[in-house]
Amino acid sequence: MIRRHTLPIVLFFIFSLVHAVWAQTRAVDAEGHQWWQHAVFYEIYPRSFADSNNDGIGDLNGIASKLDYLKDLGVDAIWITPCFPSPQVDFGYDVSDYENIDPMYGTLADFGRLEAQGREHKISIILDFVMNHTSDQHAWFIDSRSSRTAAHRNWYIWRDAKNDGPPNNWESLFGHSAWTFDPKTKQYYYHYFYAQQPDLNWRNPAVEKAMFDVTRWWYARGVAGFRLDAVDTLFEDPDLHDNPILPGTNAYGDPNMVNKYNLKLPEIHGVLQRLRKVADEQGAVLIGETYTNDIAELKSYYGEHNNELQMPMDMMFAEVNKLSPADFRRQIAAVESTGGWPVYVLSNHDRRRSYDRYGDGLHNDEIAKLMAGLYLTLRGTPIMYYGEEIGMENNDPKRKEDVKDPIGKVGWPKEIGRDGERTPMQWNDSANAGFSEATPWLPVPPSYKSHNVASELKNPDSILNFYKHLLTLRHENPALLDGDYVPLNENDPNVLSYLRRYQGEAVIVVLNMSASEQKVRFNLTPQGFAGASATTLLTTLNGQPKDVSLSQISLPPFAVYIGKVSK
Ligand code: GLC
Ligand code: CA
Repeated sequence: MIRRHTLPIVLFFIFSLVHAVWAQTRAVDAEGHQWWQHAVFYEIYPRSFADSNNDGIGDLNGIASKLDYLKDLGVDAIWITPCFPSPQVDFGYDVSDYENIDPMYGTLADFGRLEAQGREHKISIILDFVMNHTSDQHAWFIDSRSSRTAAHRNWYIWRDAKNDGPPNNWESLFGHSAWTFDPKTKQYYYHYFYAQQPDLNWRNPAVEKAMFDVTRWWYARGVAGFRLDAVDTLFEDPDLHDNPILPGTNAYGDPNMVNKYNLKLPEIHGVLQRLRKVADEQGAVLIGETYTNDIAELKSYYGEHNNELQMPMDMMFAEVNKLSPADFRRQIAAVESTGGWPVYVLSNHDRRRSYDRYGDGLHNDEIAKLMAGLYLTLRGTPIMYYGEEIGMENNDPKRKEDVKDPIGKVGWPKEIGRDGERTPMQWNDSANAGFSEATPWLPVPPSYKSHNVASELKNPDSILNFYKHLLTLRHENPALLDGDYVPLNENDPNVLSYLRRYQGEAVIVVLNMSASEQKVRFNLTPQGFAGASATTLLTTLNGQPKDVSLSQISLPPFAVYIGKVSK
């Protein structure tokens, strides 16, 4: 029975809950868009962002100390890659306890403070949900491997040997067989990644229940959503058909194969629909690590009734590796055609930094601004990668003995691993780039002397200041927030141009993707904008002209022009 004086407290609690859910699900504009459609996301690799206790490894208090920086930059949500207890075989993507923080990164109390300070800064926190596998040190797996009749035996994928070898020919993405023999119970277990990352058995409803409860546990602690790790890998063919073999071998020396029977099985969609229901109860957002090969696949991740992932990442966009207007045009049009809300990413902790991928060695800083001018002005939500905003470059290991990422150890020299894109954030030009007073876990590249937050803040022409201006514009301009995407001059092989058009207003974006000067002209009358000139909003053009004539814009190599056009 509720006693009289507790009733107001209970009512207040219910009111706060309803208010919190309402606050997170209410539309932020006339288009019915949700908060995450107007937000700029920023990925943080916690080992490498900021080290508060000087042990050479970044931590949650380090992240909290940089919230002012992130707010000032224009970030609305941070996605923190796994910071849960972990043996760190795959640097946190091997989780041994989903409901805690690894002591290396801090405590649950630190997380609580980070979340509260994030709230004050209006920065939401997105955690990484490693769904496909746990660490082999997770209590579930320790029990699972203890005997064939253990309570958690069927939480993982155990099979008998076939002809004294593994149950079939499936290979791990991280090299060699995806099956490891466990002598104690004389069966093999399946792992799409390292042997220390056994796959969960998502056909077991107990696994689904336990994992969904993990998300509820974090929602109750203020988390605004999850980035779902490796969603393509959740299910495997229960009959274990062999995968078809292709000619040649991969970086690990294994035969190439089509992962026909262990990737992207249709059962994934049922899980995503049910996980989305849990998320919707909280007004939370689900972002997917969706490595799709074609647009139909990407479309399927939104769900037939938009009832799966709100934000499946378009990795095909990040795979356009050369500055090719035609290729970008094609990919943007493809994503637009899904009817879903696009999610643009240039790089992450698994891919070479965009500074290196697009840079030509001569105009890298200009190209970094050009790429920002592209993915931050498209219709959709961008996810930045820490350090992109200052032009951080890869610092790849030169010798096998320096490699930390196990895939680099197994695959050297063909696969050098992912250390290069995971180096410490460059805060200033002091020792260790101001990341830590101790030797950082990975070395900072020499470029920290010129490419760091403190120096770039002082330089009006820096990449960082370009990002800041661009993000301010993006947050304030209705056409950039809500406008449609209208490609322009579609046959131009050098310059990528488009309009973002919203309710009688439009912004034109013109990006010279070539190393030579280009002259372009636009006739926007068919699009409803007959004005002869554009008013500059942001540009890298010399002299920062206040406006330009649409009948002739001269663009130096890699120039960016963003302007407002009129009727
Ligand atoms: C995802 C992560 C990657 C990790 C893998 C296994 O691809 O982004 O870093 O190694 O999943 O969890
Ligand atoms: Ca630390």
